[in-house]
Amino acid sequence: QNDAAKETYRPQYHFSPKAHWMNDPNGMVYLNGKYHLFFQYNPGGTTWGPMHWGHAISTDLLHWKEQPIALYPDSLGMIFSGSAVVDVNNTAGFGKNTLVAIYTYHNQKIEDAKTGLHQYQGIAYSKDEGKTWKKYESNPVLPNPGIWDFRDPKVNWNEESKQWVMTLATKQSVTFYGSKDLKSWKRLSEFGNNLGAHGGVWECPDLFSLVYNGVKKWVLLVSINPGGPNGGSATQYFIGNFDGKTFTPENTATRWIDYGADNYAGVTFAGTGNRRVFMGWMNNWQYANQVPTQSWRGANTLPRELRLSKIGKTLSLASVPVKELSKIVQPSMVLNNLKGKRSYNLSSKIQRLNSRYMLELTTSNNTSFAIKFGNKEGDELIAGYDKKTNTIYVDRRKAGKVYFEKSFARKALAPRISSSKQLSLKIFVDAASLELFADNGLTVQTNVFFPNAPLNQLSIEAGQPITIKQLKISGISATNE
Ligand code: FRU
Repeated sequence: QNDAAKETYRPQYHFSPKAHWMNDPNGMVYLNGKYHLFFQYNPGGTTWGPMHWGHAISTDLLHWKEQPIALYPDSLGMIFSGSAVVDVNNTAGFGKNTLVAIYTYHNQKIEDAKTGLHQYQGIAYSKDEGKTWKKYESNPVLPNPGIWDFRDPKVNWNEESKQWVMTLATKQSVTFYGSKDLKSWKRLSEFGNNLGAHGGVWECPDLFSLVYNGVKKWVLLVSINPGGPNGGSATQYFIGNFDGKTFTPENTATRWIDYGADNYAGVTFAGTGNRRVFMGWMNNWQYANQVPTQSWRGANTLPRELRLSKIGKTLSLASVPVKELSKIVQPSMVLNNLKGKRSYNLSSKIQRLNSRYMLELTTSNNTSFAIKFGNKEGDELIAGYDKKTNTIYVDRRKAGKVYFEKSFARKALAPRISSSKQLSLKIFVDAASLELFADNGLTVQTNVFFPNAPLNQLSIEAGQPITIKQLKISGISATNE
């Protein structure tokens, strides 16, 4: 590994670009045994700038090999977020099994002219698994109808209506478009003006189905910035039905796939059959351009598998790290039945794990407790459960560098959704990020932090004596190149 790969805050089992700026994951698709990740990329610096599509490939969602840039800006504009599909039946006429990217052009000159027509959708295709790309000569395929924010097309084949359906962010709603050939698009319907969170602009939507107890349901993800539950950027979801034209939610509450501050613009992979694999950008627009990394900025969340889960009469969206992760989990240290104390010092158990580990804990919800990660510098990162409010929180206010931006120091709160008396937490730490999955992914929190030294101290502290049924600590192998 070179110096940039070893940089203090460099994640070792999450994807981050070797150098320069990255934001949203784009065009995620599984093709011929390989997962392709494209991403919003500025090869000219470590802050947001002229957008390209970077590219990385993996066979297991964990070991990523960065590739040459896939899409460059052209005379129509920069290349903003979008998706990719495998055109199995050659609907577009570029050839069978061609990889087709559908993305937003953002034209700076038109934006400066303030006509509101600066974002429109284009397509490009690749016949060599994403190595080289040709832009379609008649771009744009979907011109701007006069909507300032008109972007982030996510395209899926819809079996019900036998056509491609594009889910597009249109200001503070989602608009669906249909097409037989990926080239000519017809407006189908609009969703969301009166539902969900509206504290900011809607971005990066995704519509897909999941089966629960043999019944097919549709899930709509919508990122929003600002207006997240803990400030800034976050991703809300709706569960309902889609008839090939219209999305009808069956639950109108505002709900979030992840309550932490740092999971944004996430969508799912195309080409994975019935499996839904999600990955987000582990960052928040409030401070993304200021986070204290050196040679690069931006990393992704762990890839997560999505499923539906029912509590009482309510269906919720749950997410857990993909099963492939077990390949890089080292043998665990297991402690059973830690009994009746208010505090457990576990520092010796993580000392040699290089700030890369997984912690699994099973206890009951009858008392509040705090899991404290620390170091010799006195930094403290806390993940905990508050019994009185039934919340799961992550507090990074004292976890090291927080003053590079005024809203970074925060305690992120998440409601506990499960009603079970047993509380189970899975926590993943990787240098500068903590991902917490409670109750099998019903409540999720992802937050980044920047400690002054590696966090190699660990304790669990409770208000009253607490019995921990089981605690497992496992090291995790690095997957970085
Ligand atoms: C979301 C977003 C998208 C846009 C891209 C630009 O983070 O704002 O809406 O396409 O980033 O880089």
